[in-house]
Amino acid sequence: MAKIGLFYATDTGNTRKIAKRIKKQFEEGEIELFDVAKATPDAMKDCEALIVGTPTLGDGELPDTLAAFLEQMDSSHVSGKTIAMFGLGDQVGYPTEFVDALGITYKKLKKLGANLIGGWSAEGYEFEKSKALRDGEFVGLVLDQDNQADQTNERLEEWLEQVKPELLGATVTG
Ligand SMILES: Cc1cc2nc3c(=O)[nH]c(=O)nc-3n(C[C@H](O)[C@H](O)[C@H](O)COP(=O)(O)O)c2cc1C
Repeated sequence: MAKIGLFYATDTGNTRKIAKRIKKQFEEGEIELFDVAKATPDAMKDCEALIVGTPTLGDGELPDTLAAFLEQMDSSHVSGKTIAMFGLGDQVGYPTEFVDALGITYKKLKKLGANLIGGWSAEGYEFEKSKALRDGEFVGLVLDQDNQADQTNERLEEWLEQVKPELLGATVTG
């Protein structure tokens, strides 16, 4: 049984690459990757904690695969479960819809009773509007592979330092 399930959506592969980079930062057997295009929410029931990652597509929209996946979900999949989220976007190309899908997904998971962790400072990004902001902070790690790929390693490292103990702590079953 996977301890941590990392569920991701992707269009052009960036989010899958980040998912693989995250996996490398965990021990063998601690984390399993699931592409939401091929998985069902029932797979979440076997995971003790979750990471959910998504790009924003269209004009501030969820990828179709993630929209379909979320539609199949109810509280039995995530209620009380610790979840850390990350989102990919393009702050130069989409400054008024920057990483909106992260915010849309967050809202849905929160409504289903998830315990969301892993908020991230909005400092160092330039954009006008984002649905991923709550009280001035992003609701999860924000990565911009189109304009700030050189900052991704550092951001990932710092964020994982923050969320890893909480995610692994949530997997202790005694
Ligand atoms: C058609 C299209 C629409 C996009 N719309 C948005 C958007 O509304 N907001 C945003 O922040 N990024 C947007 N992006 C940027 C992607 O989120 C970004 O390139 C991301 O790294 C893609 O991840 P993926 O390779 O996993 O699909 C868009 C990209 C494409 C190709």
